[in-house]
Amino acid sequence: MSMEGVAWSSLYKLTRAKSGKPFSKATLKRVLGFARPHRGRLLAFVALSVVMAVLAVATPVLAGQVVNAIVAKAAAEEVVRLAVLIAVVAVAEAGLGLVSRWLSSTIGEGVIVDLRTRVFDHVQKMPIAFFTRTRTGALVSRLNNDVIGAQSAFAGTLSGVVSNLVALILTLVVMLGTSWQVTVLAMVLLPVFLIPARRMGSRLADLRREAAEHNAAMGTQMTERFSAPGATLVKLFGRPDEESREFAARAGRVRDIGVRTAMLQFTFVTALTLVSALALALVYGLGGWLAITGQLAPGDVVVLALLLTRLYAPLTALSNARVEIMSALVSFERVFEILDLKPLIQQKPDAEPVPPGPVSVEFHDVRFAYPSADKVSLASLEEVSTLDTRGGDEVLHGISFRVEPGQTVALVGSSGAGKSTIAQLLARLYDVDAGAVRLGGTAPGTGLDVRDATFDSLRDTLGMVTQDGHLFHETIASNLRLARPDATEDDMWEAIRQARLETMIRSLPDGLETVVGERGYRLSGGERQRLTIARLLIAQPRVVILDEATAALDSTNEAAVQAALGAALEGRTAVVIAHRLSTIRAADAILVVEDGRIVERGTHNELLAAEGRYAELYRTQFAEATAVAQEAVPEY
Ligand SMILES: Nc1ncnc2c1ncn2[C@@H]1O[C@H](COP(=O)(O)OP(=O)(O)OP(=O)(O)O)[C@@H](O)[C@H]1O
Ligand SMILES: [Mg+2]
Repeated sequence: MSMEGVAWSSLYKLTRAKSGKPFSKATLKRVLGFARPHRGRLLAFVALSVVMAVLAVATPVLAGQVVNAIVAKAAAEEVVRLAVLIAVVAVAEAGLGLVSRWLSSTIGEGVIVDLRTRVFDHVQKMPIAFFTRTRTGALVSRLNNDVIGAQSAFAGTLSGVVSNLVALILTLVVMLGTSWQVTVLAMVLLPVFLIPARRMGSRLADLRREAAEHNAAMGTQMTERFSAPGATLVKLFGRPDEESREFAARAGRVRDIGVRTAMLQFTFVTALTLVSALALALVYGLGGWLAITGQLAPGDVVVLALLLTRLYAPLTALSNARVEIMSALVSFERVFEILDLKPLIQQKPDAEPVPPGPVSVEFHDVRFAYPSADKVSLASLEEVSTLDTRGGDEVLHGISFRVEPGQTVALVGSSGAGKSTIAQLLARLYDVDAGAVRLGGTAPGTGLDVRDATFDSLRDTLGMVTQDGHLFHETIASNLRLARPDATEDDMWEAIRQARLETMIRSLPDGLETVVGERGYRLSGGERQRLTIARLLIAQPRVVILDEATAALDSTNEAAVQAALGAALEGRTAVVIAHRLSTIRAADAILVVEDGRIVERGTHNELLAAEGRYAELYRTQFAEATAVAQEAVPEY
C-alpha cells in the first residue's frame, strides 16, 4: 500500500471510530458517479497534470545542470542555453496552469449543478407528510451549505489530489535516481509529519460537522421567525431576548469552531514547514558531505535541495486534501441522505390519465392513519435525535360515499373529525391505508383509483382551495397563473370578477402586478381567501374540493363569495367542507363526519327532521351565523 494509502486508511478508521458514522466506500463511489459525465475533461485534466508535474521537476534538474556547468567551467553559451530553457519551462507552466484550473473548476461546478438540481427535484417529489415534519430552515441549509461544501472540495481538492500525487511520485523518482541515500534520509522525518496529520483530520471533520449543525439550526430559527406569521407570533407571545440569546450562543459556537479550525490548520502547516526545513538541513549535510568526498556532483545537491521543497509541498497539499475530502464527504452524505429518502407517494409507471368528461368521486371503505415519522422524514431535518416510529392513530375508519358528476356533497362535523383529511386523500396528498378513492366511472367500483392516475391528470382534474389559502410572495397575476400558466389577462379579470375582487384589485396602484407579500400577508383574510377562489376558477377543474375557512368573511363578502362559488361549482363535481349554512343548503347531499366515520347522510331537511347529530350541529353552529347573514343580504 502506498504511503498515501496508509495515511488515508488510518484517517478513515479514526474518523469512523470517533464519530460512529462510517464513510462508506459506497459514498465515495457515488460521489465519483457524479463525475462520470465529465470523463473527457477529467482525462484531459489528468494528462495535463502529468505534463505539469514533469515541468515542475524539470526546473530543479536544469538548475543542477547550471551549477555543474559552472563548477566544470563549461562554455558560457551552455549556461545561457540552460537559463533560456528554465524560462521556457516557467512560461509553459503558467499557461498550462491556467488551462488546468479552468478544467478543474468546470468539472467541479458541473458536478454541483447535477447534484443541486437532483436534490431540488427530489425534494419536490416528497409527499406533503415530509413537509409537515421537516423544518424548512434545516432543509434549505442542506441545499445550500452542504451542496456548497461538497462543491468546494470537488472543484479544488479532488483536482489537487491528482496533480499533487503525480508531482509527488515524479519528484520521488528523480530524487531516488539522483541519490538514494539522501532521499531515504529525508524520508526519515516523514512519520513525524504524518502522525499529527492523521489526528488533525478526524478532529477537523468533527468540528465541521458540528458547525454545519449549528448553521442549520440558525437557518431554521431565521426562516421560522422572519416570516410575517412567525414574526407576528414572536411579537405577540414570544420572548425576543431569549431568542436572541439562543441565536447568539449558536453564532458564538460557530465562531469558536472557526477559530479552532483555523488554528489547527495553521499549527499543522507550521509544523510541516519546520519538518521540511529540518529535512533540508539533512540534505545539505549529507549531500554536501557526499559531494566533498566526490560521491555526488555539486549540482545534484542543488537538485535534491530544490526537489525536497517540491516534495513537501504536495505532501502538505495532500494531507490538507485528506481533511477537505473528509468534510466534503460529510457534506455529500448529508445530501445523499435526502436523495435516499424514498417519496412515499409516487406515480406508477403504468399510470393512466383520468378519463375525459364529467367525473364522479367515490370513497370506498377508506381507512387512513397519518404515516409515522420514520417513513417520511429524517431525524436531522426534524432536528430531533431519533424519529418517532409509531404510526399515527387511525383517523378515518371506513369512509364510503359517492358523488355523481356535477353534484355537490357537503361534509360537516366537529373540529378534528377528519374532514380535511378526506379532502387531502381525494387530491392524493396522502395515500389510503385500505379501501380506495376513485374518480370517474359510471357505477360504484368502476372508476380510476387515484393511485393509478398520472400526477398531471390529477392536477388538471382536481382543484382545491385549502383551509389556509396559501399564496406565494409574488404578484397577484403570478399567483393566479400558477393554476394555468397560459391564462390571459382577460381570463384573470373574469375569475377576479367572479371572486368579487375586481373593485379591490382595480383600486391597487399596480393592479394585477401587486405583490401580495409573504404568504399573502398584505391582503386581508377575506381578500386572501377570495384570491384563492379566483385561482381555482382560473384552473377550471372538473372536480372542486373546497375546504372552507372557518371564519374570514363579513356577511356582505360572504354572500358575494357564495355567489362566485355557486357559479364555480355549477356543473362540476364538488366536495365541500362547509362551515356555512348557505353552502350546506346548496349541496345535493350532506355527510356528517364524526371521529372518522360518516354518522349521518341526507339533505338538509331530511337531516333536520331526523333530529340527530346534524340537527344539533345546526342549532349550535349554523343557525346563529345564518340569522346574521340573512339580515344583511338577500339570499343568492
Ligand atoms: N399531518 C397530520 N399528522 C398527523 N395527524 C394529523 C395531521 N393532520 C391532522 N391530523 C389529525 O387527524 C385528525 C383529523 O384532522 P382533520 O384536519 O381532518 O380535521 P377536520 O375535520 O378538518 O377539522 P377542522 O374542522 O378543525 O378543520 C385530527 O385528530 C388531527 O389531529
Ligand atoms: Mg379541516
